[in-house]
Amino acid sequence: MKKVLVLYYSQSGQLRAVMDRIVAPLSQCEEVQCDYRKIVPTTPYPYPWPFYAFFNVFPEAVYLDGCSVEEVEADDDYDLIILGYTSWFLSPSIPVTGFLQSDQARLLFKDKPVITVIACRDMWLFAQEKMKKLLTDLGARLVDNVVLTDQGKSLYTFITTPRWMLTGKKNSFWCFPPAGVYEKEIAAASRFGERLCKALHHDEERSSLPMLRNMGAVNVNGKLIATEHIAHRSFLIWSKLIKKAGPPNSMRRSVVITIYAFFLLTLILTVVPLNMLVRKLLSPFRKKALAKAVSYYEQPSGK
Ligand SMILES: Cc1cc2nc3c(=O)[nH]c(=O)nc-3n(C[C@H](O)[C@H](O)[C@H](O)COP(=O)(O)O)c2cc1C
Repeated sequence: MKKVLVLYYSQSGQLRAVMDRIVAPLSQCEEVQCDYRKIVPTTPYPYPWPFYAFFNVFPEAVYLDGCSVEEVEADDDYDLIILGYTSWFLSPSIPVTGFLQSDQARLLFKDKPVITVIACRDMWLFAQEKMKKLLTDLGARLVDNVVLTDQGKSLYTFITTPRWMLTGKKNSFWCFPPAGVYEKEIAAASRFGERLCKALHHDEERSSLPMLRNMGAVNVNGKLIATEHIAHRSFLIWSKLIKKAGPPNSMRRSVVITIYAFFLLTLILTVVPLNMLVRKLLSPFRKKALAKAVSYYEQPSGK
């Protein structure tokens, strides 16, 4: 009998729906015991998010200041851990970071193979880099990564995802598609559970090799790599400023957040399109470097 621990934190239930699809075939697998657990922060985060609450978590997310979380009901001898998380400001969500920094995670993850599952807008590369570090600190082995991103072009999701987070509305409007991942992509995530069932049967989790290769687990959008680099650098600077201004929800922090919101909007309307144009012009000369970067971020599962 193989034991699998599935952990996740989801607010609207979208990531939960993805995890449900992966877990369903695993739970029906005769030789697998699947413990499916939600990560619960001691103090819940709001959803939908009031504007200032949303930006208040920005510095703590970026600097990996995890929150306190409840202990999950779990054993300590799992063969495989599947960890579902969302990206918050190019970082793992604070409750997931908090869990990975807990004493319980230290016991659970040591020497264990881990599969990460991400469902987010489309900016997850740096979140996953941070996740790799958190897992390495725990002595865990990342063996696969599955990523589902929101439907529609980046230009659209830049509006539809925040609208969804701040109002709870996912519907299409004007020329914009609905927010979130395509339903059919969520449904198709069951293929990962089916594959894992077979892989566990053949003890594949014991090797350090990925089990979800050639399954379309990850699709890196090369155009977004440079944007994430720029955004991440700017996030580090602004997070420091906002943190220095005052503790979460203080008046002083709100003032700096307001300035930041204007800065961000200006950046998006000016630097981001300019950067996209420059990248497009340079792209014929950077093909090799881009392909190398894409291949790096696609690891370990690949396309
Ligand atoms: C505070 C906050 C920050 C977010 N930042 C990002 C981000 O940097 N990149 C991204 O692709 N999605 C981002 N998202 C969207 C989430 O990754 C995810 O798609 C959304 O929260 C829905 O997930 P859930 O309802 O299953 O928790 C953010 C969401 C929140 C609430």
